[in-house]
Amino acid sequence: MESVRREKVAALLKSQAGRKVLAKGWVRTKRGNKNVAFTALNDGSTIHNIQIVCEMSRFTDEMMRPVTTGACIGVTGTLVESQGSGQNVEILADEITVYGTADTSYPLQKKGHSLEFLREIAHLRPRTNTFGAVLRIRHAMAFAIHKFFNDKGFYYLHTPLITASDAEGAGAMFQVTCLDLQNPPKKEDGTIDYSKDFFARHTNLTVSGQLEGETGALALGEIYTFGPTFRAENSNTPRHLAEFWMVEPEMAFYEIEDNMDLAEEFIKYLVKYALDNCMDDLQFLNDMFDKELITRLQSVISTEFARISYTEGVKILENSGRKFEFPVYWGADLQSEHERYLVEEHFKKPVIMTDYPKDIKAFYMKVNPDNKTVRGMDVLFPKIGEIIGGSQREENYEKLQNRIKELGMNADSLWWYMDTRKFGSAPHSGFGLGFERLLLFVTGMSNIRDVIPFPRTPKSAEF
Ligand code: 4AD
Ligand code: MG
Repeated sequence: MESVRREKVAALLKSQAGRKVLAKGWVRTKRGNKNVAFTALNDGSTIHNIQIVCEMSRFTDEMMRPVTTGACIGVTGTLVESQGSGQNVEILADEITVYGTADTSYPLQKKGHSLEFLREIAHLRPRTNTFGAVLRIRHAMAFAIHKFFNDKGFYYLHTPLITASDAEGAGAMFQVTCLDLQNPPKKEDGTIDYSKDFFARHTNLTVSGQLEGETGALALGEIYTFGPTFRAENSNTPRHLAEFWMVEPEMAFYEIEDNMDLAEEFIKYLVKYALDNCMDDLQFLNDMFDKELITRLQSVISTEFARISYTEGVKILENSGRKFEFPVYWGADLQSEHERYLVEEHFKKPVIMTDYPKDIKAFYMKVNPDNKTVRGMDVLFPKIGEIIGGSQREENYEKLQNRIKELGMNADSLWWYMDTRKFGSAPHSGFGLGFERLLLFVTGMSNIRDVIPFPRTPKSAEF
């Protein structure tokens, strides 16, 4: 069997009939009669299956018995033009090798399992059409992110996952420790002595690579990070994960307007990349889950995002006559219901909102001359709400130090960050794109647990 080179199903389906081929993959379905058996084979290279035709004059029932849904097989045969509809070519089998059988306890026997059920078998769900499509799109988007920045001369900077600082000042962090939790070393005042811990200090998993990213931007000019980030907020929503991937570009000499331009160009590039490169998978998701998916993607790349200030946004919401669950007033942190009203009902397109009250935003944002608002920006998307959060950074040493004091933050562990303002500081800006939020938009899936292979959420870390 091995004399013919294995080809992937995606390539076979596009190639010319009339030659010997070898395909390997997992059986999706099998049907037939006493004369012929039809097996749909999928190897993950495409949403489409290749049909394997076994004439029962060549195969015995015994040979076909282990070829069941879920089994892994290799097939040699002739690629022939298909007699049936739905495919151009199929494989007329000479020989089948069974690599791994799957008995009737294989959970993906039938089509049409609920997404909730599939979350309970996250180790097998990549073998479904839906998760095959989502995971291929996830890969394509990761690749496109690197391509976008590489083509623009940005450098990929690897920022640490273990850190002693809280970049967002939000306190929702997972602690990292090697101390004996039953019997931790104590200081004289009875508090835990972290100087005895592995890193000789209190450490956490990072909530954002931004602070280290800024040190990169103030040396290399334009950088981006792309890695996992961790938040221990107890939010059980369809848009929050405890472990999610974030893309964080950071650019020297960018003002807030340049930052907005880059964010808009970036998202449009990614959506266009998906439309240009993932159409088979998008079409499947469009047909199965969200009939407006492809139209929505096309409309985003052809419309200019609305740009409004927080103050204008609050006025629109106050004048909307709408009863919201959470009240709207100047100073309130906008909720997803408010964001979605602005995007889906008022503007009917993505919105970039800027100049938020400083009290609801992180310490590093540049304060406006009004001393009330900061140069922050959120990009708000239909169905998702906030997809990007970013800002121009405070580059002035004294102003930043006062802000840290004002917020009662621990300035000591940020000495290295403050040094960037002390030595050759520069205006700079950046933002963070939630990778899974982007994927929610691009795939049309409605729960963030369904766009990452192994979701981490409160009370759930199996697999
Ligand atoms: O708005 P956030 O908290 O901003 C930052 O972390 C900044 N340091 C980014 C920067 O300026 N470099 O998070 C950025 C984005 C959000 O807009 C959202 O898309 C996503 O990260 N995000 C989450 N995605 C999934 N689950 C969560 N729990 C998320 N929290 C934030
Ligand atoms: Mg935010």
